[in-house]
Amino acid sequence: MVTEAQKTGLRELAAKAAEHAYAPYSRYRVGAALLLEDGVVVTGCNVENCSYRLTSCAEQCAIARAVAERGPGIRVRAVAVANLNDSASMPCGACRQTLSEFGADAMVVLYPGESGPMETTLGALLPHAFRGEFLDRWN
Ligand code: THU
Repeated sequence: MVTEAQKTGLRELAAKAAEHAYAPYSRYRVGAALLLEDGVVVTGCNVENCSYRLTSCAEQCAIARAVAERGPGIRVRAVAVANLNDSASMPCGACRQTLSEFGADAMVVLYPGESGPMETTLGALLPHAFRGEFLDRWN
C-alpha cells in the first residue's frame, strides 16, 4: 500500500535528487526515489562517464545506495523517477531489470509521462522478467 501522500513525496524527492545529477554529456538530469518496505526512502541520480557506456542511471544509483546503506535484504515497494528536462522519463530496460531484483511485480512505478504524472507497476513494464530463481537449480 502506497498512499497518495507518499507518492507525492517520492516524486518530489526524485526531482530533488536530479539536482545532483552528473550529466555533462547528455545534459539529461534524472533522479530516482525508492520507497523501501520498512518505509525508508533512498534516492539516487544519474552519473555519466566520458566513455558513455559506464554511465549509471538514477535508478541503478538509488539501488546501489540502498543496498550499501540498508543491506542486501532491501525490498522496494515503490519507485519514482523524475528529470529536470520537462521530458517523459520511463525507467530504461536495464533499470527495470535492476529494480526487479529487489521488488515484486506489484512495485509501484511513478514517472513523468508525455502529458503529466503517470503510474504503473514493474510487472507491467517488465513482464516475464528473468529472475534469480531460474538459477536455483545450479546451486
Ligand atoms: N537515464 C537514467 O538515469 N534513467 C533511466 O531510466 C533512463 C536514462 C539517464 C542515463 C543518461 O545519463 C541520461 O539519462 C540520458 O540517457
